[in-house]
Amino acid sequence: MGRIGGAVLGAVLAAAASACAAAQPVLMPQPRSVGFEPGVLAIPGPFKVKVSGCRQPLADRAVARFQADLDLQQAARGAGPTLRISCAERDGGYLTIAAKEGYGLSVRADGVAIDAQGPAGVLRALATLRQLAAAQPGVPGPGQLPFVRIDDAPRFAWRGVEIDTARHFMSLAAVKRQIDAMERVKLDVLHLHLSDNEGFRVESKLYPKLTAENGGQFYTQGQVRDLVAYAAERGVRVVPEFDVPAHTGAILRAYPEFAAKGPPNDPLVTQNLALNPASEEIYRFLDRLFGEMTALFPDRDFHVGGDEVSDAAWSADAGVQAFMKANSIEGRVAMEAWFHARVRKMLEARGKRVIGWDEIAVTPIPKTVAVQVWRTSNAIATAVQAGHPAVVSAGYYLDLLNPVTRHYAVDPLDLQGDGFTEAEVAQAAKENALAGAAAKGMQLKPLPPLTPDEAKLVLGGEMELWAELIDDDMIDMRLWPRAAALAERFWSPAGVRDPDALKRRLPVIEGELEALGLQARAQRERAAERLAPGHAEVVMTLLEAVAPARNHAHNHTILAMLRGQAHPPPQMLTSLADAAPVDSFAAWRFEADVKRLTGGDAGAAPAVRAQLTQWRDNDARFAAIAAGSPDLAAGKPASADVAALASDGLEALDAIVAHRAPSAQAQARAAQDIDKATRFEAASSRPLFSFMRPQPPDDLIVTIGPAIGMLVDAARAKP
Ligand code: ACM
Repeated sequence: MGRIGGAVLGAVLAAAASACAAAQPVLMPQPRSVGFEPGVLAIPGPFKVKVSGCRQPLADRAVARFQADLDLQQAARGAGPTLRISCAERDGGYLTIAAKEGYGLSVRADGVAIDAQGPAGVLRALATLRQLAAAQPGVPGPGQLPFVRIDDAPRFAWRGVEIDTARHFMSLAAVKRQIDAMERVKLDVLHLHLSDNEGFRVESKLYPKLTAENGGQFYTQGQVRDLVAYAAERGVRVVPEFDVPAHTGAILRAYPEFAAKGPPNDPLVTQNLALNPASEEIYRFLDRLFGEMTALFPDRDFHVGGDEVSDAAWSADAGVQAFMKANSIEGRVAMEAWFHARVRKMLEARGKRVIGWDEIAVTPIPKTVAVQVWRTSNAIATAVQAGHPAVVSAGYYLDLLNPVTRHYAVDPLDLQGDGFTEAEVAQAAKENALAGAAAKGMQLKPLPPLTPDEAKLVLGGEMELWAELIDDDMIDMRLWPRAAALAERFWSPAGVRDPDALKRRLPVIEGELEALGLQARAQRERAAERLAPGHAEVVMTLLEAVAPARNHAHNHTILAMLRGQAHPPPQMLTSLADAAPVDSFAAWRFEADVKRLTGGDAGAAPAVRAQLTQWRDNDARFAAIAAGSPDLAAGKPASADVAALASDGLEALDAIVAHRAPSAQAQARAAQDIDKATRFEAASSRPLFSFMRPQPPDDLIVTIGPAIGMLVDAARAKP
C-alpha cells in the first residue's frame, strides 16, 4: 500500500496543481462549513495525540491508521504538533443510523483540535484531516496543514455502496480496499449482495451445498466476521442481502426441490425462477439459513431483496396456484406479500429490521420495514407516505455506466430525479410492446415535493454496482472515483452541486485514494496492458476519448436473452469497452481547456493543440498494434473516429488562432463527424432504448464530440 508522502505524493500534487489554480485543498465530501485562515501548521513528525471521552481503542487505532497514511509513524523527523481529540459521548448508536457523526475541526498555531459528537465523528474528522494534509499543491510531503475551522455533519445518515458479490465473486482483499476508500470519503453502509442466480457467497454450515454447488467461491464464516469487524473499525456498517424469492438460481441449483415450476420451454427461465412459496419446507430452510446468517452479520438491518418476481414465476405451478386459492391469495403480488410476511416474522424474531427493494411495499406492510427505492424516484414518495424509512438508489446505479455528473445531479429528495417521461413511455411503446410496458412501470408522474416530515424518513442514498460486467480486477475502476462524488451528494449540503467544480476536484481525490492503495487507475492500466502488452499507452490514449456504451447496451447476455436465447455463454470482460473509463479525466481537462480558449483565453491553445495532436496521431499507432488482436481490431472504427474528430478540432484551432473561418469543406466534415459521435452516444443514453438502438462498433462511444463542436462553433464565429 502506498502512502501520502514521499514520491507517491508527487502524482497527487501534480494532479492537484493542474486541477485547481487556487492552493486550497480539495475536500470531498465538501463540509457543511469551512473557513480557511491565513497561516499553516508545520508537521515535522508524528502528532502528539490526546484523546478524551471517546471509545479508546477504536479512536487510537483510527489515529494510528491516519498517521500511517501520512507516513508519520516513524519518529525520524522530530516532534509533531498536538492533535487533541475529544468526544462528547461514547455513543450507543455507533454503527446505526443514529450514529453521532458531526464534528468540529480546527487547525491553528497551537495544533489540531477535533471536537466530535461521538466516535464516528472522530473517524469523519480524520478523513477530512487526511485530505487537508494530502492536497497541498507545491508543498513537498505532508509537511503542513492550512489553518482552518470546519464545522461538519452529514445531511443523510445512510450513505451506502452496494457491491454485488454474486454475479462476480469479489475477493476479501478487494472488498476491504473498497471499505478503506469508503472511510476516506465518509461513506458508511456497505450493502453486500450475497446471493443471486449466479452464486451464493457465504459459507453455511447447515446447507453446505449452497456454496459447494455454486463454484466454490465464497466467504467463510471466519472471513465474514473479519470483514464485518474491519468495516466496523472504519465506521462502516455491513448490511447483508440474501435476495428472495426470485434471484434465487444459486439456491435452487443446490436445492432444485425448492423451486416453483416455471413455464415449459421458457427462454427467460433464469429470470422466471423463484422459490416455491407454498412449501412449508422453504420456510424451515429459510428460518435455519437466516438464523445462521443473522448470527454472522450483527447489523440491525437485514436485506431480503424481494425484487423482480415475474408473473411467470408461479403461474405455471399448479401446487402454488392451488395454495393461493385455498388461502384466498389473489395474484402474484399478494403471494409475494404473504411470502415476505413469513420471512419478516422469522427475522424480526431475531431482532432484525427488514429492508427490501421497493416491490416489497407495493402491498401494505408494517411501517417498520425499510424500503430501498430503485425503480423510479417517484417511489420515494410512495415509501415515505406509507410511513417507511427509505433508502434511495434510483439515479445511483453506477453499473449503468452513465457519466458521473448525471448521478451527481440527482438529489435523494428529488421525486423526479430518475425515471421515464410520458413522451419516452409513448415512444418506447411505439417501438416495442414489451419495452413500452417496462417503461410504463418506470414513468414519472408530477408530484408535490415531500413535506419536512416525509423527508425525514429518507435515510439517505446508496449507489449500486451490479457486477454482471465487473469482476474482482475491475471493481475499483468501476466504483471509483465516482463513488466519491456520490459520497458528497449524500453527505454535503444540497447546494454543493457544481458539475464543473466536481470535474476539477475528482481527479485530485482519485490521486489521493490511489496513493493510499486504491486500484482504480492501476486496474485501468493493467487492463490496457493485457490488451496490448508493451503498448498500454496507445490503448490508454484511445480510451481517454471514448466510453463504454451505457445502460446495459454492453451487456450481450441480456440482449441474447431478450432475443430468446435461454442460456447465452458468459460474456468475457476482455474488450476495449471493459477497459474504458466511464469518465475520462483527460477528456474533462480537454473540455475545460476548450472552454477557456473559446472564452477568449489564448493561453489555452497549446494544451488544446497538444491533446488533439496526440489523439489524432494515436490512430496510426493503434492500427499497428491492432493487427493480430481481435479485441483491439474491434476498436479500429472508434480509433479512426477519434482521429477524425481530432483533425477537425485541429483545423478549427488553426482557424481560431489565425482569426479566420475554417473552409466550408472542413466545416462540413466536422459537422458529419460530430453528428456521428452524437448519434452513437444517444443510442445508449437512456435505459430500455439502449436495447433497441444499433450501438457503435465494439460498444465504444466517442465522447469528445461536444468539445470539438465548441471549437468548431468558435472558429466559425470568428471573422
Ligand atoms: C434491482 O436492481 N433489481 C434491485
